Amino acid sequence: MLSGLENKWVLITGASSGFGAAAARAFGEAGCRLLLGARRLDRLEDVAAEARQAGSPEVGVQVLDVSNTPSVEAFTAWVRGRTDRVDVLVNNAGGAQGLNSVAEGVDADWETMLQTNVLGVLRMTRAVLPLLPRDAGATILNIGSIAGHVAYEGGAAYCAAKAGELQITRALRLELNGTGIRVSTVDPGLAETEFSLVRFKGDAARAKKVYEGMQALTARDVAEILVWVAGRPAHVNIDELLVKPVDQAAIHKVHRRPV
Ligand SMILES: NC(=O)c1ccc[n+]([C@@H]2O[C@H](COP(=O)([O-])OP(=O)(O)OC[C@H]3O[C@@H](n4cnc5c(N)ncnc54)[C@H](OP(=O)(O)O)[C@@H]3O)[C@@H](O)[C@H]2O)c1
Repeated sequence: MLSGLENKWVLITGASSGFGAAAARAFGEAGCRLLLGARRLDRLEDVAAEARQAGSPEVGVQVLDVSNTPSVEAFTAWVRGRTDRVDVLVNNAGGAQGLNSVAEGVDADWETMLQTNVLGVLRMTRAVLPLLPRDAGATILNIGSIAGHVAYEGGAAYCAAKAGELQITRALRLELNGTGIRVSTVDPGLAETEFSLVRFKGDAARAKKVYEGMQALTARDVAEILVWVAGRPAHVNIDELLVKPVDQAAIHKVHRRPV
């Protein structure tokens, strides 16, 4: 999958699983150099091996917790030790915790969702911005969600977090106007990754039910879109891309076949 991205430096947060891991493989196929962060280093090392196999000329992995400013700073110092430029920043780390109503809300869940999906994007972007080259097609690629556009019961904090991510993306595009740095958000609907397993705290049966009888997006589907967005000519900015499985016509309308 060649896209003019050969040898570009791509930094992906949350690269140990799901979209982030698939993005590492897909940007690897495009010949990119990769800087991968997440909290689980063993998983990152497996992803790095796959990305090298896919064609990446250089892959580095490092522990990163986007909910913690010192961790983001240590990660960025590690990045600076390997390169003086980052061409593509993929702010992917995040997810949901629980599906409780506001009345039944759990502080720790709310805090995790806002720390990772909102403050994590702000922290990472602030830290990496000085490394993004001007007028060279550099891209900040944030992963939003359909949940940032439409609310659902039990999703108040997650929907708020992803709506926050969308507004961060929009504000950044205004702030960076004139620098040539592109800012995009890719907002998926139902996609089968470890997202629901994490949301339901390891309850695999409950997680599986989310995708039962329907064809969800795969992590690969989303990763291919990320490579496409980053690979557009330098003067083209894909502002906001909402992608859903055909079976999901709207957040509450999912076609399910009998199982
Ligand atoms: N799957 C969906 O249906 C869907 C739809 C729309 C949007 N999204 C969004 O897509 C993004 C990726 O999710 P996914 O579906 O690929 O889920 P996933 O398979 O659970 O992957 C989430 C990734 O985020 C990382 N992560 C979580 N908290 C982190 C932290 N504090 N610091 C660093 N890394 C952290 C995880 O790594 P570690 O645990 O190793 O740190 C993991 O690599 C998330 O922002 C999610 O909200 C998902």
